[in-house]
This record gives sequence, C-alpha cells and structure tokens, in this order.
Amino acid sequence: MKINKKVEEVLNKQVNAEFWSAYLYLSMAAWSESRGFKGFANWMRVQFHEETSHALKIYEYIISRSGEVKLKPIEPVDTSWESLLHMLEETYKHECKVTEMINNCYEVALAEKDYATTTMLQWFIEEQIEEESNALEIIDVLKVTGEKSGGIFYLDKKLGKRTLND
Ligand code: FEO
Repeated sequence: MKINKKVEEVLNKQVNAEFWSAYLYLSMAAWSESRGFKGFANWMRVQFHEETSHALKIYEYIISRSGEVKLKPIEPVDTSWESLLHMLEETYKHECKVTEMINNCYEVALAEKDYATTTMLQWFIEEQIEEESNALEIIDVLKVTGEKSGGIFYLDKKLGKRTLND
C-alpha cells in the first residue's frame, strides 16, 4: 500500500531534520578541531555520519513505500560555542528535540493507521535513547574535569577512539 500523504510529509520533514543534525555536528567537529580537540572532533564526525545514515534510512523507506522524497534546503547551523560543555549541552538539547520529532512522526503514523511506518520508527525511538545518553555521559565527565585540567586530555583521547560502529 502506497504511503499515506500526511505520513509522507512528516517523514520528509524528518529527513531534512536528520540532514540538519548532520550539518550541525560537522560544524561542531570543525569548531573542536580548530581548538585542538581532535578527539571531540572525531566524535562529532562520527555523529555526522550517523545522522546522514538516519536521513538515508528514512529516504529509502519513503521510496520503498512508493512515496515521493522532497529534499528541502538545510537551514544554517551555529559555528561556535562558548565551551566544550556548552557544545555538548546543545547536542543534548538538540537530541531531545529530535526525540520529540520522532515521537510526532509515530503519532501521525498511528493516527493514519500506517502500521508499517510505526514499525520502521521503532528503530529510531530506541536510537534516540542512545543519542541522548551518549551526550549526557560526556556532559557528566566535562562537569567534573572542566576544560583546563589533565582530565580533558584523557576525555579527548577517549572520544578520539569512537568509530561508526560504537
Ligand atoms: Fe538522528 Fe541524533 O538523531
């Protein structure tokens, strides 16, 4: 059965939001790199790739349901932050917003009785738990280490080891 139009619309918005997220994290990667925090930059680059794959997952789903993908312009993102902690707090806030958007997609699909889409979105609902907790974990450490202690170099080194499969 061809995808419902309301569901198609909300999923297209989600594709845009995931690409916007990718753009945001790439900007955070560049900012971290420019300040010498290569580990943070790596973590953000992995995040960028993850977001791109989220966008493509929904893109492919719309196509598999004979829907129409409508790519819209990507709005500008911030290019600097007050501190690493501020950047991670913005990451966490953003992920909470994405969680709300995914929940909204789910609600629309459910209201339209599009059960195939609710099943597809289940993966995203679980993913968002991880997305939020990943950011919170770094925030907790940053609050203890601050930006100038030796602890920050240890954290940077640790974040530098993140790969796409983590
Ligand atoms: Fe695709 Fe970070 O949510």
